[in-house]
Amino acid sequence: MSARPIVRRSASRLHRHAAVALGLLAAAAAWAQPGARPAPTPQPGALSPSAGRCGVCHPAERVKFDASQHAHEGVRCTSCHGGDDRSLTIELAHGGNFRGRTARKDIPALCASCHSDEKMMRAYNLPVDQYAVYQTSVHGQRLKRGDTAVAVCSDCHGAHDILGPGDPASRTFAPNIPATCGACHGDTTLMRRRGVKDAYREYLSSIHARELLDRGNLRAPTCVSCHGVHGAAPPAVGDVDKVCGQCHTAERRYFAASAHIEGMRRAGLPECSSCHGDHAIQAAQPERLATSCAQCHAADSDQAALGAKLWTEYRAAAAEIEKADSLITRADAIPIQTDDYRARIEQARTYLREALPAAHSVDPVIVGGFTLRARSVGSEVESEIYGKLGNLRTRKFVLILFWFYVLVTLAILRRLRYRTAKAH
Ligand code: HEC
Ligand code: HEC
Ligand code: HEC
Ligand code: HEC
Ligand code: HEC
Ligand code: HEC
Ligand code: HEC
Ligand code: HEC
Ligand code: HEC
Repeated sequence: MSARPIVRRSASRLHRHAAVALGLLAAAAAWAQPGARPAPTPQPGALSPSAGRCGVCHPAERVKFDASQHAHEGVRCTSCHGGDDRSLTIELAHGGNFRGRTARKDIPALCASCHSDEKMMRAYNLPVDQYAVYQTSVHGQRLKRGDTAVAVCSDCHGAHDILGPGDPASRTFAPNIPATCGACHGDTTLMRRRGVKDAYREYLSSIHARELLDRGNLRAPTCVSCHGVHGAAPPAVGDVDKVCGQCHTAERRYFAASAHIEGMRRAGLPECSSCHGDHAIQAAQPERLATSCAQCHAADSDQAALGAKLWTEYRAAAAEIEKADSLITRADAIPIQTDDYRARIEQARTYLREALPAAHSVDPVIVGGFTLRARSVGSEVESEIYGKLGNLRTRKFVLILFWFYVLVTLAILRRLRYRTAKAH
């Protein structure tokens, strides 16, 4: 992929000189047409292999097109618009099978004329299902009924500047996808009129957006990770949430084995988003183990009490780890060898981290397995360090005693010597 732009650029440089002459010729030709519409400003250097002479009169489209994946793969202006790209008069260039500007409702079929063609796409190992999947999406369904405000292929890919999803300049490059969808889904007036919420703005406030857009974490979901690339339709409340489990496998595993899954399904509650929301998902706040249960269970219920118990155990373990950690720092300063303790505290932290996914089991035995282990590792480390510090204190005491003894003995000896010297 990275080699391609270089090839394209040098190819267009080769044509630059010939094109200067052609550009001027074209301008003259266009203006010489009686009754012809004024041509878009012709530019010198306006010929490229893929745009042919169309590019002479349509420099803006040519420039975009020359940088696209299509231009590199032999697609031409005429592939989509028809006409004759060897001619320099509008009559001839826009003659024959010229189709003009493609109407929005016809764009998916135009793209599909190649992208659903198994024989043509096989060489690129590209899937050929985009058009079929698009038809099942809310976008495709609405378009069929004449609603042209929905997304068509060119809204997400561009018409002339099409690039593959791996190219950072592409609208479909992962970090660019939210803005691509947001062009419409962030248009609050358009969406409010249709009774659809502003998913884009909500998404931007999420931990997922912060990970993807601020920290460049490509494992975080874009819109299409949850909605499907061309499906763009939440098929059923019960299904969109399963996508969370693609990435959060441990949470999904504990949840699927819990008493909650059946109960929530019966109550018609979507499995992850009832507690986390769908777009504005926030970073973990462990105290919600206690506070979130009351959203659905009575504040004095057994379930709320269970939540409070899980939080208490979690907090106690976290406090133990912190205590052990600060003890290690003190021991470090003495210094006492602490590498082994640091490794064990890391292990305790891992147990504690595992307690949050495990909390999706709403089973005190499973969660306790992690919080209690974390806590006991913490307190073991503490007592061992105290032991060593204690030893150290004893050793210091003995040492002081020893020196005291030595000094006293020395003093006595000196005195004896002094006395004997005086006696002589
Ligand atoms: C001699 C100059 C010239 C050449 C060569 C030329 N065009 Fe045009 N084209 C024009 C002008 C002038 C317009 C009308 C101005 C406008 O509406 O933007 C136009 C309009 C268009 C439109 C929009 C039509 C619509 O329905 O709004 C498309 C699409 C188009 N040209 C494609 C092409 C293609 C493809 C080629 C090459 C096969 C080509 N043109 C060659 C001058 C030219
Ligand atoms: C892959 C298909 C495809 C190719 C190849 C293509 N176009 Fe287009 N073109 C479109 C579509 C689709 C639209 C309508 C875009 C829209 O409505 O947003 C369009 C619109 C246009 C317009 C009208 C623009 C306007 O703002 O009204 C012009 C002019 C044009 N194309 C010229 C060209 C030229 C010149 C080339 C070659 C350099 C070219 N196109 C190559 C699909 C294509
Ligand atoms: C004339 C046939 C043709 C038409 C019409 C066409 N394409 Fe393509 N398209 C191709 C070919 C060939 C490739 C090159 C595939 C590659 O390099 O992987 C391509 C590549 C692409 C890619 C990049 C795929 C990748 O992963 O590299 C996208 C996206 C794309 N086309 C979208 C569109 C859209 C949107 C339209 C309609 C506006 C369209 N195409 C119309 C033939 C066509
Ligand atoms: C709502 C936005 C949207 C619409 C509408 C859309 N696409 Fe895409 N398309 C995407 C995104 C996003 C990707 C990149 C997915 C990824 O990262 O794998 C993509 C990928 C592709 C690819 C590359 C596939 C690959 O595996 O490399 C092709 C080809 C393509 N789309 C063609 C089309 C065609 C044809 C249409 C119309 C029938 C269309 N798309 C409509 C958003 C859209
Ligand atoms: C060109 C504008 C546009 C773009 C770009 C766009 N959409 Fe849409 N989308 C719409 C419109 C309009 C609707 C129909 C809303 C309605 O009336 O219910 C819609 C509907 C949807 C729905 C169904 C909502 C419902 O009614 O249940 C989903 C999901 C969706 N879009 C996701 C996406 C995603 C994901 C992307 C980007 C990959 C995207 N859209 C890009 C305009 C757009
Ligand atoms: C982490 C998963 C996830 C991500 C990321 C995500 N969505 Fe959603 N989206 C959902 C869920 C879950 C629903 C609710 C589905 C339902 O009610 O059927 C939803 C619903 C929607 C709806 C319908 C809203 C309504 O009021 O009917 C639209 C439109 C939508 N999302 C667009 C987007 C757009 C645009 C993005 C990117 C900016 C995006 N989503 C990112 C999971 C996600
Ligand atoms: C494409 C993968 C992916 C999907 C799908 C996904 N997430 Fe995430 N999620 C991430 C990544 C990556 C992070 C960043 C933090 C991390 O690495 O755990 C994250 C973070 C989170 C966090 C904060 C975790 C923390 O430690 O602070 C929560 C809560 C969350 N996601 C819930 C959800 C829910 C609910 C869904 C479904 C509606 C969902 N996620 C869908 C990848 C995903
Ligand atoms: C009954 C409410 C509830 C349901 C249902 C739920 N969660 Fe959670 N989830 C929580 C609570 C409470 C926490 C811990 C506090 C926090 O993160 O805010 C949490 C924490 C998380 C975290 C961050 C902590 C971590 O690393 O585990 C992720 C990621 C997460 N949940 C994903 C999911 C996924 C995926 C689903 C669906 C399979 C789901 N949750 C279903 C309540 C729920
Ligand atoms: C989004 C709503 C929701 C939230 C939030 C929620 N639950 Fe539940 N929970 C339910 C539903 C619905 C049931 C099934 C009730 C039934 O079948 O009567 C259930 C059942 C349970 C059960 C098993 C069956 C029972 O009746 O004892 C336990 C245990 C439980 N919840 C604990 C919790 C804990 C702990 C929290 C907080 C961490 C919590 N729940 C948060 C909706 C929720």
